[in-house]
Amino acid sequence: MKNLVVYYTLSGNTEAVAKEISNLTGGELKKIEMVKEPEAAGFAWAAFSSIIGLKGKIKSTDLNDDGYDNIFIGGQVWAGHSSTPLNSIIHSMNFKNKNVYIFLTLADEKEPTAVIKSMTERIERKGGNIADVFYVQSKMKEVLKQEELIRPLQEWLSKNNVLQVG
Ligand SMILES: Cc1cc2nc3c(=O)[nH]c(=O)nc-3n(C[C@H](O)[C@H](O)[C@H](O)COP(=O)(O)O)c2cc1C
Repeated sequence: MKNLVVYYTLSGNTEAVAKEISNLTGGELKKIEMVKEPEAAGFAWAAFSSIIGLKGKIKSTDLNDDGYDNIFIGGQVWAGHSSTPLNSIIHSMNFKNKNVYIFLTLADEKEPTAVIKSMTERIERKGGNIADVFYVQSKMKEVLKQEELIRPLQEWLSKNNVLQVG
């Protein structure tokens, strides 16, 4: 099984999850960066643009997903919605006949059901099959640590038969 782990991170939380998924599945990591990061555009703009479902322009990167069986797609919640960079990733990729695993980080403790539903609909419309979803609450002042992620991720990946090491 060939795994791709594609993600966007602004403050490092989603990256911590992405790296651990990559370690545990042997998946190739692909970090997406924006042409204009929210620091430049402003956080109010970031929140607003997420609410209205905008996409941002991503730095040119090879988002060719051919040859992968499983795509892990990760991002964060902004203003109760999928972040604009996450919208861009979904928009740019081809999910046809892929198993797609969503992973999200957010500050709230409750399940981001609306975000999961909307991402699922968009990915399914592009031919992807949503295999499972993982989400984790991040903290305000410190980035998620490997020690706190490894156990829940091992469980999640093992349940889905995609755990390769660990
Ligand atoms: C502009 C902005 C809006 C946010 N809005 C929400 C929100 O509505 N709900 C929530 O749970 N977290 C919200 N957060 C927190 C992020 O989802 C959380 O910190 C996430 O782990 C960030 O991921 P990252 O470190 O990979 O960038 C927001 C963060 C930013 C920067």
